[in-house]
Amino acid sequence: MILKIHDHDWVDSTNAVATDLARAGAPEGTVVVARGQRKGRGRWGRSWESPYGENLYASMVLRPHVVPPQVMGLTPAVGLATVSMLTEDLAIPAQVKWPNDIWQGKKLGGILTELTTRGEHVDFVIVGIGLNVQTTRFPSDIVATSLKQLTGKDWDIREVLNAWCRHMDAMIREFAIDGFGGMQAEYEAVMAMKGERVRVKGLTESHEGVVLGVDSVGRLRLEEKGQAIMLDSGEVEKLCSLP
Ligand code: BTN
Repeated sequence: MILKIHDHDWVDSTNAVATDLARAGAPEGTVVVARGQRKGRGRWGRSWESPYGENLYASMVLRPHVVPPQVMGLTPAVGLATVSMLTEDLAIPAQVKWPNDIWQGKKLGGILTELTTRGEHVDFVIVGIGLNVQTTRFPSDIVATSLKQLTGKDWDIREVLNAWCRHMDAMIREFAIDGFGGMQAEYEAVMAMKGERVRVKGLTESHEGVVLGVDSVGRLRLEEKGQAIMLDSGEVEKLCSLP
């Protein structure tokens, strides 16, 4: 996959810039990176704090040849690629908190996947990553950490981006062959809160149970009242067990 990197100083959102490029025909592997974002987007319509020059804000155009139900597995697949990059290239063992948080006991980063369809088919997917690199002070309502906070070292954001692109490249090739199903076991091995009691808050309903893992399209497998259920989306939080 040939990667063309579009380098920006300030943008509203790298996902928005990548979407415009994809609409204009940009090929798979096109990357947009910015030093700061004025309107960084998070999941569920939240904003993503993007202080200038401190962290990685990047988006990649993907054009997977799958139908929309299978494309769902891309979000956890990107999470797995990011965790592999952190563990193998940066020697920072990290986990994925389903579906898309990069986790080290606290939130180290997040992934925002935005899908555009054409009829029944996937036209393109924009995968955006926000990874905390240098920031050491976070908004009080966010339990977060950064590469700097975890290691005490200063990291070169460009090197982190290059490493992420290499791992994304490998993941995309694997995804094209077997989809997320081929990565399911690898994902479960780095899954935060596996075997723990959690609450999963969705937009309209909430579930409580023990995290069993994920299925072959990346849905969360939860044991609730003795029954295994699958969840497409939600916010997972750990429940404290009573003594
Ligand atoms: C989350 O809510 O956890 C996902 C956050 C994703 C943030 C990244 S930063 C780069 C890209 N551009 C955006 O506007 N959002 C994503």
